[in-house]
Amino acid sequence: MNPYSSRCLRSGELDNYSARLERRLMDMAEFFSDKEMVGALSDRNPLIYTVYEMTAPEEPGQLSYATTILYPGKVGDEYYMTKGHFHSKEGTGEVYYCIAGRGLLLMQKGSRVETTGMEEGVVAYVPPGWAHRSVNTGSENFVFLAFYPADAGHDYGTIAENGFSKIVVEDRDGPKLVSIRPGRSIRP
Ligand SMILES: [Fe+2]
Repeated sequence: MNPYSSRCLRSGELDNYSARLERRLMDMAEFFSDKEMVGALSDRNPLIYTVYEMTAPEEPGQLSYATTILYPGKVGDEYYMTKGHFHSKEGTGEVYYCIAGRGLLLMQKGSRVETTGMEEGVVAYVPPGWAHRSVNTGSENFVFLAFYPADAGHDYGTIAENGFSKIVVEDRDGPKLVSIRPGRSIRP
C-alpha cells in the first residue's frame, strides 16, 4: 500500500477518512449509570460523540488513527463519555493527543483505575491491557486524536456487561470520580 495523510482540523474533522461514526445515547444506553435518565432522554436521543477513522489493513505492524469529537453534556450527573473498550488483541497500546476541550481519560486494568487529565496539547499513553474511555468534563467539545495498531480490535462487550468500577460525575466542586463497583475487576 502507499503512504497517505489527512488534515486534522481543530474541530476534530479529518478531511480524508475511511469511516465516520455517530454514537447517540440509545446506541450506548447500557453504558450510562442513571437508567431512569436514559429513559427520560430516549426520545431526544442526543448525539454523544462522532468519530472519524482512517483505518489501515488489519495486519500486524499497521497503524490506524481516528479523531473523536465528544460533545459536552450529562446523563443525570454522569458526563458524556465514549463507550470505552479493551483491545481484543493482547499487547496492543494506544496514544491519545488532545486537540481541544477538556476531559479525562479513564483507564482500568483488573481492579486498578487510573485517570489522566486531558487538555489541548496533552499526549497520553494507554499501555496494553488497560480498558480506556474518554469523558468530557468541560463545556466545549472535547476533541482528540488516537493512534492504535490496526489489528487491535475493539471489545466493547466487556464494558457493556461489567462497566468500569468508577464513573465520572459532576459534583458541586467539579468533576468527581465515584466508585460504583469498589474493587471489582472488569476482566478476569
Ligand atoms: Fe483503543
